[in-house]
Amino acid sequence: MPSLNPNAPSHVKNTKLIAWVADMAALTQPDSIYWCDGSDEEYARLCQQLVDSGTFKKLNPAKRPNSFLACSDPSDVARVEDRTYICSESKENAGPTNNWMAPADMRATLQPLFDGCMKGRTMYVVPFSMGPLGSHISHIGIELTDSAYVAVNQKIMTRMGKAVYDVLGADGEFVPCMHTVGAPLAVGQLDVKWPCNSTKYIVHFPETREIWSYGSGYGGNALLGKKCFALRIASNMGRDQGWLAEHMLILGVTTPQGKKYHVAAAFPSACGKTNFSMLVPPAGFEGWKVTTIGDDIAWVKPHADGKMYAINPEAGYFGVAPGTNYHTNPNCMASLDKNVIFTNVALTDDGDVWWEGMEQDGGGLPAHLIDWQGKDWTPEIARASGAKAAHPNSRFTVAAGNNPALDPEWDNPAGVAIDAFIFGGRRSTTVPLVTESRNWMEGVYMAATMGSETTAAAVGQMGVVRRDPFAMLPFCGYNMSDYFQHWLDMEHRLEEQGHTLPRIFCVNWFRKNEAGKFVWPGYGDNMRVLKWMIDRLEGKAQGVETMFGIAPLFDELTWTGLPFSAEQFNTVTSIDKASWAEELKLHTALFEQLSYHLPLALIDTKAMLTQRLQD
Ligand code: GTP
Ligand code: SPV
Ligand code: MN
Repeated sequence: MPSLNPNAPSHVKNTKLIAWVADMAALTQPDSIYWCDGSDEEYARLCQQLVDSGTFKKLNPAKRPNSFLACSDPSDVARVEDRTYICSESKENAGPTNNWMAPADMRATLQPLFDGCMKGRTMYVVPFSMGPLGSHISHIGIELTDSAYVAVNQKIMTRMGKAVYDVLGADGEFVPCMHTVGAPLAVGQLDVKWPCNSTKYIVHFPETREIWSYGSGYGGNALLGKKCFALRIASNMGRDQGWLAEHMLILGVTTPQGKKYHVAAAFPSACGKTNFSMLVPPAGFEGWKVTTIGDDIAWVKPHADGKMYAINPEAGYFGVAPGTNYHTNPNCMASLDKNVIFTNVALTDDGDVWWEGMEQDGGGLPAHLIDWQGKDWTPEIARASGAKAAHPNSRFTVAAGNNPALDPEWDNPAGVAIDAFIFGGRRSTTVPLVTESRNWMEGVYMAATMGSETTAAAVGQMGVVRRDPFAMLPFCGYNMSDYFQHWLDMEHRLEEQGHTLPRIFCVNWFRKNEAGKFVWPGYGDNMRVLKWMIDRLEGKAQGVETMFGIAPLFDELTWTGLPFSAEQFNTVTSIDKASWAEELKLHTALFEQLSYHLPLALIDTKAMLTQRLQD
């Protein structure tokens, strides 16, 4: 008989938590309940258990110490946006960009799915803090999961462990995060390497601050502290409490004069946040230093001194593997040398990992690999079939502490004062390399109307341009138009304190030429654009007015070490009137979709841009 007694350890005093675990155990009927303590010993034990059960392969310790490879079921490889729901009391509150179901209907839908869903499995109780433990800006979550893979990933991605219970005390608040892979085991039934269910639900109840996730073990579907909590639920908290939960990296940039600035940048999934946050300045930028505070999520709060302070609520990186190499992101490669969980990359014959892009590090293509689906891979097979050795959304899970470029302030509970926000999509045409908004309003407009080509980070068609406001389309936990208003309101909130607002820039690293090749070298060379932004902040670059903000002159970028002609520069910065006329039509379509509560100021700004285009 499954045990319904949660048998909470004596250090767990929170009565609501103990009652909730008992209720959830009664519902899901696990064989046993295991309370995670977050210790290194526990991590090692659970990893070994995952090796024994076949979910993990231990990598060659001489090549990749204390590291593991997991390969998922081929049906469970990315976030499932069409199965993700915001179940607010009213449909309007979820808004037209979110899937919605009435809370009572969703609860009725989930009840039979969760009933007995953990039979034959262990329920792990995973206590975690988003943000430094005990800090006033942090929030606690408890994830109940039947996946040991999730438990060990959470140890890396969050501050996970026993100390959370001390902060929680007897009556502290936590966000309940319920997760199951949805694959109960009958008595005697053998488990598979990656249990999951073809039915999936990723559900948020914003009013009661609950998360329920069914059927997937992968990434943002299952590591519930990340997108579900730190973005969808936290955006609701931020709306109520006057702060922002954003899909943004945070970096520090120090000039040769020793002045340090902080930048937060929102790019959609798989559009370069991790890369930008770990940027290594190219030759010619001696004395410049970029340091990482966060690579994916920022909680941004206006402070009494009139500045906006940002913290990274996470403690690790769940980053895209393909394309990462010593040329594109040396800091990232250095952070992956030990203590890493890899998911859906390829296995080399000597027990190491490989993914597309690594061939640029000098070794060329390996003669033989086991691909992410366990099949033989050779360059010949790849040429003939186009088969990828690593899944395009394969990822690594690694602690922030592994990053050689980690900013010393990265877990300062006070956060860092933001000097500039950057918004950028993946656009092969139309959008220029960089422009600065003339004011807060125009910056919010640029962010709100941003488009981007879809990537492998979410299940669905790849490479189609869609509007992705603030890179938050899949992550905003309430009505997008109300979210725009919340951003607009920040201006007055801060101006009352007499402070100059962070500046707002718009970037696009991804313009292509007629041959379909990226024109801008990207990666470390993005430093050239970052420096221009700092020059703008310091009043050293005048720029030139365009219809879409202030753009750099060719001579305002530092070109040392990069042969890049004025003509190439023109290819990535030109503003084509016909393309922009089409682009503005897409803004109109977005505004029609979001017409309920859409701030009038955005409509006025569009009229002004349209006028500029005609002039
Ligand atoms: P999520 O973790 O999904 O939120 O993604 P992310 O925004 O952190 O993206 P990441 O930095 O992992 O980059 C995703 C892909 O874009 C990788 O394959 C990178 O190699 C590629 N990429 C990153 N920066 C650049 C760039 O400046 N130029 C080009 N062309 N590609 C880039
Ligand atoms: C993203 O898709 O934006 C990610 C990866 O950062 S996941 O955690 O799977 O959402
Ligand atoms: Mn992300």
